[in-house]
Amino acid sequence: MTESISSGKFITVEGIDGCGKTTQAEFIIDGLVEAGLSAKIVREPGGDPISESIRKLLLHAEESMSDRAEALLMIASRAQLTDKVILPQVINGTWVVADRYADSTLAYQGGGRGLSVQSLDSINEFGTYTLKPDLTFFIDISVDVANTRMRVERDRIEKEGDGFQQRVREQYLKLHENEPERVILINGEQSIEDVRAEIWNHVKEKLEL
Ligand code: TYD
Repeated sequence: MTESISSGKFITVEGIDGCGKTTQAEFIIDGLVEAGLSAKIVREPGGDPISESIRKLLLHAEESMSDRAEALLMIASRAQLTDKVILPQVINGTWVVADRYADSTLAYQGGGRGLSVQSLDSINEFGTYTLKPDLTFFIDISVDVANTRMRVERDRIEKEGDGFQQRVREQYLKLHENEPERVILINGEQSIEDVRAEIWNHVKEKLEL
């Protein structure tokens, strides 16, 4: 990404289903606004009318979807959101917090579905216009704890079961090991307030607030 003095930062929040990332993404936004910054939350897949249409297809399709079609649709939704929402906002000085981004595809379609992480990385690079998050929080919880937290009504991907979620979690752990400076591992089994405080300390320290 081209940096300029007025450009905002891009933060992403990741983890398996039920880890509490949406709540924490909202807390980050609250903190940024309190610090006097302009901040916007987006969610993936979705966040723009075209991306939301792709989300409906991805999460509620009745027909069986091929793994590669699923991966490409995730990345198509990301390309739309990046071009139309994230990049214009960041360039204008707004801090954008994304509830999931490119790492979700590496974890779910790579780890979960078993597609090549290397191939997905290249397609992600194309789909993100090479935008990389300044900071990523991986909120880690066990699959057992996730099961106690997840709502009863599950979408197509949430219905994949424990083995799938376990592989997704393992891939997230690898992403953290490969890029520990960017992908910060947070123990998501602490209280919501403790997770919030830990994340905020990292935001302040790493992004020099
Ligand atoms: P999410 O919006 O986090 O679910 P919820 O509406 O319950 O908060 O994500 C929807 C599902 O899509 C989730 O199971 C993870 C999955 N997903 C992928 O498989 N690959 C991706 O690239 C993304 C962004 C999401």
